[in-house]
Amino acid sequence: MVVARDYEEFKKAREKLDGSVGFVPTMGALHDGHISLIKRARRENDFVIVSIFVNPTQFLEGEDLDKYPRKEEADLKICELAGVDIVFMPTINSIYHQDELKILAPKIRGYILEGAKRPGHFDGVLQVVLKLFNITKPTNAYFGKKDAQQLALISSMVKDYFLDINIVPCEIVRDKDGLALSSRNVYLSDEERVRALSLSRALKKGAELLSKGILDSEIIKKEMEEILKKNVDRLDYIAIVNREFKEIDKVEIGNSIILVAAFVGNTRLIDNIWV
Ligand code: PAF
Repeated sequence: MVVARDYEEFKKAREKLDGSVGFVPTMGALHDGHISLIKRARRENDFVIVSIFVNPTQFLEGEDLDKYPRKEEADLKICELAGVDIVFMPTINSIYHQDELKILAPKIRGYILEGAKRPGHFDGVLQVVLKLFNITKPTNAYFGKKDAQQLALISSMVKDYFLDINIVPCEIVRDKDGLALSSRNVYLSDEERVRALSLSRALKKGAELLSKGILDSEIIKKEMEEILKKNVDRLDYIAIVNREFKEIDKVEIGNSIILVAAFVGNTRLIDNIWV
């Protein structure tokens, strides 16, 4: 496995790969969710590239950029065991330049929900993902459905900018008790972790209502809110959108996503189900 720490080093290693390439972009602190993406990329491609880069431009002022978990040694071990061919771990200076050209998230879909709570976040995500796509030149790129809005916007970027890359949406990986895996779960105390389970419980409630034929978004959100407001410290949103990320009054089975975002203690968590 090659570990490349800047573009030139990476380019030399990339030139040697002759065949299909699966790419898994990450910010490190790899958990079973990332591992499932890497394993899928391994199964479906001749070569696998993983990037590990805590991208400063997607963090807002006052967010957790400085304390975001960094676990280089463990991450490299995980990549090696999972059969990764190249790990790209660039420095900030090798990715960003002075006064550089910017890519902006779409004005509506990039500034609702996560984009409304974290304005500018998706500009930073798209900026770095476009760079990483251009550097790694993947055949297939793997993204978790947990970051559903990110996934939708990256899929739009690929379409809008005519990028020849297949985006592969991958299922959310959960702990046995239902908590969606996230690198930020390490911030939760034992007591907060119990309360954090209310996110997946609320989503389960939403699915249960759908199975009873209740499709009205307001009714579903109200019932979910009952569960969440007893447990979380701040509810950012409960939303029901179609796969194009437009809010809908009635769930369209097979084309909808129910999303929640909330703070438990100081930790902001997101979760969703695709229905
Ligand atoms: O989902 C993430 O970990 C990040 O947003 C990504 C896609 C690696 C870009 O920094």
